[in-house]
Amino acid sequence: MKTLWQHCHVATMAQGVYSIIEDAAIVTSGALIEWIGPRNQLPSGEYPAVNDLQGAWVTPGLIDCHTHTVFGGNRSGEFEKRLQGVSYADIAASGGGIASTVRATREATEDELFASAAKRLKSLMRDGVTTVEMKSGYGLDLVNERKILRVIRRLEKQLPISVRSTCLAAHALPPEYKDRADDYIDLVCNEMLPALAAEGLVDAVDAFCEYLAFSPEQVERVFIAAQKLDLPVKLHAEQLSSLHGSSLAARYRALSADHLEFMDEADAIAMAEADIVAVLLPGAFYFLRETQLPPMEALRKHKVKIAIASDLNPGTSPALSLRLMLNMACTCFRMTPEEALAGATIHAAQALGMADTHGSLEVGKVADFVAWHIDRPADLAYWLGGDLDKRVVRHGVESSL
Ligand code: NIG
Ligand code: FE
Repeated sequence: MKTLWQHCHVATMAQGVYSIIEDAAIVTSGALIEWIGPRNQLPSGEYPAVNDLQGAWVTPGLIDCHTHTVFGGNRSGEFEKRLQGVSYADIAASGGGIASTVRATREATEDELFASAAKRLKSLMRDGVTTVEMKSGYGLDLVNERKILRVIRRLEKQLPISVRSTCLAAHALPPEYKDRADDYIDLVCNEMLPALAAEGLVDAVDAFCEYLAFSPEQVERVFIAAQKLDLPVKLHAEQLSSLHGSSLAARYRALSADHLEFMDEADAIAMAEADIVAVLLPGAFYFLRETQLPPMEALRKHKVKIAIASDLNPGTSPALSLRLMLNMACTCFRMTPEEALAGATIHAAQALGMADTHGSLEVGKVADFVAWHIDRPADLAYWLGGDLDKRVVRHGVESSL
């Protein structure tokens, strides 16, 4: 059915800038945008349904391109410890950190994981998110990684949101493989990835390249296994130290390299040449009280596309609002509100391999948008979270939560 949406201004985010249309109209036909432009150029015709957006600012639906939404338990106890001076690396070394979430996730049933993740996901959705990526990575064996990935698929079926599912089996070394990292990588490459891909549970493959996780050589083996299965790759790289994982990701034409505080200019050049997206995660930067900033100057100089995501996870970024991350990207990383919004729309879509269909408001793309009752687009990065007055449209249909 054809629907007309009018009395609004639009920031289309085409080409990664606001690309504003004042006094705009949008025509949707089913799930797609059929026409968009200034209202005075609207083609005359019959519109069976007309929506008055009352002067709202319309943006693409927000895209959170890096989350670990499905997990058991939480780690507020570790948060308290870190405030007393214990570091994230020390906590990880003494059996806490990711390992403690792995224990809680293994103990949880699929239904329990679904229920807790759905609550967190609804919080992101109430803030205008219409597409989300979710990773496994707290199961670390076939049965438990499968359990998480099945929950991710079920969330997409039961909630009005588009989902990309990423297998992050190479997130940490499970306790049963202590001191046998290469054997665990064998398991990931030879058994876990092929089985999970065959079950249709995986859209992309990620790994954690870090001295307290996996080496570039081990990550490369995961990338090769993923590519044999025709799955795109992405990487947690340069979060705590520089192993040049971002350059490795560029060599494998990854969709994105994520975190990146410790990357250098050569990494930025490699990423720009391969056109892979730099996903910055200000929530983790803030929550770990990191002081090393991602190299914004090099990223801008070499025109690396930048996305912003919540990294929603229990250890380093218990972030339930993507808009709050836009604010942090501006305050912590000195991004402009326009760059930040591109980071949660068109560049986030590219980080998920969805830029042809999502992330900007253009003819032929999917009609996922939010009509915000705000004064200017910059307001989206200005308010620190909160529940802004808005209407959310997904696949051409207004959705309510
Ligand atoms: O993206 N860096 C690795 N993974 C997560 C943290 C996971 C955790 O501490 O539970 C991240 O920050
Ligand atoms: Fe992460």
